[in-house]
Amino acid sequence: MAALLEGDPAPIDGELPNKSDLKSKPFSLYVHVPYCAKRCGYCDFNTYVPSELDKDDQIQSWLTSAIKELDLIKKVTNQDLVIDTIFFGGGTPSLLEPEVINEFLENVSRRYSLKPKIEITLEANPDTITQEKSDYWLASGVNRISIGMQSSTKNVLQTLDRTHNPENVLNSVKILKDAGFINYSLDLIYGTPGESLEDWDKTLNDALALEPPHISAYSLVIEPGTKMGAQLNRGEISNVSDDDAADKYSLAEQVFSSRKYEWYEISNWSRSEMQCQHNLNYWRGNNWWGIGPGAHSHINGVRWWNEKLPKNWREKLTRNQSPALAREILSERQIKDENLMLLSRLRKGIKSKEVKSSARNSLIEQGLIYEESENIVLTLKGRLLADVVFRHLSE
Ligand SMILES: C[S@@+](CC[C@H](N)C(=O)[O-])C[C@H]1O[C@@H](n2cnc3c(N)ncnc32)[C@H](O)[C@@H]1O
Ligand code: SF4
Repeated sequence: MAALLEGDPAPIDGELPNKSDLKSKPFSLYVHVPYCAKRCGYCDFNTYVPSELDKDDQIQSWLTSAIKELDLIKKVTNQDLVIDTIFFGGGTPSLLEPEVINEFLENVSRRYSLKPKIEITLEANPDTITQEKSDYWLASGVNRISIGMQSSTKNVLQTLDRTHNPENVLNSVKILKDAGFINYSLDLIYGTPGESLEDWDKTLNDALALEPPHISAYSLVIEPGTKMGAQLNRGEISNVSDDDAADKYSLAEQVFSSRKYEWYEISNWSRSEMQCQHNLNYWRGNNWWGIGPGAHSHINGVRWWNEKLPKNWREKLTRNQSPALAREILSERQIKDENLMLLSRLRKGIKSKEVKSSARNSLIEQGLIYEESENIVLTLKGRLLADVVFRHLSE
């Protein structure tokens, strides 16, 4: 995430080398909303607090440029695509006025058909969810909320520099349920310095008490350049050990599976049929256009990423140019390796015959994968050592 991607220059008009068969695969929209009330100490995402932005680039300016990028998609793809999923990510999309979300979605609908029962997700911070916003989101078509719960212990939330408290999460879920949301996810982080196994156990059980249809649990990554990265350098905090992270992942799997949540991707669990369709599209190598500053896109083996600064993103769109900063055209070999790596993260696994028999046998012997029907699937040990598995798969 922190590494600078160089890539090749991106064409000024956003043209793509290969637009054939765009209708043969799901086509999704990722919509990046790069604003936060306060930056959390661990976060390295492309997001800005108000004091870091000029007057012209505050949250109120987002919609005009986002609609211009929708026009660019229409011009470049030049086809009647059916949008498969939409995901508002951040930053903090729940900070946008709900009318803005509504207007953006109306603009999508004016340009494209939406898949029947399309999944539209919005990431929300627990202290920004209100009854009024929830009603509006639902009426606008948003039908899945991803709540950044992180932890239910106050000390962990404090170390992470979160603005919310555990009660905000309880209230948010109640508000969303009352509004009529059936689908929501609780997003958790484990491995925060100072978090005990008991703290994590409490977080897992508190999360499950809210009966979420979906849960994700990611290990904390302390990136250089963040506030926590600096605290680590100064010795004020220390990184947790691999063993601690493995114990916490294993506990999550044990607690979730005992309550009938099934893992469907290494860091994601759900109750029946409530998997995140948008993220599945990423892992399956489908096509998506990322709208917004710093957003990444992938269409038929071409990957590109937008200008990170809201000002640069806005200015390029104002000049009717593509806001892309650079792009990368993947070789057949890169596409194959990437697909193998992404698909192997899924519970469904990958076709055995896609993997060299020497690598397959060695991974089975090490207890990292098992065979199921014609596929190979990660074992719990394989999920903990996924990097080792990926290295073998691309041999
Ligand atoms: C970038 S945030 C956007 C949504 C929202 N602002 C929130 O914080 O929940 C999406 C998820 O990424 C997680 N995240 C951000 N930085 C991370 C890091 N360094 N390690 C692990 N998870 C991280 C957040 O905790 C959050 O659950
Ligand atoms: S609220 Fe979310 S996006 Fe914003 S700084 Fe915190 S983790 Fe990053």
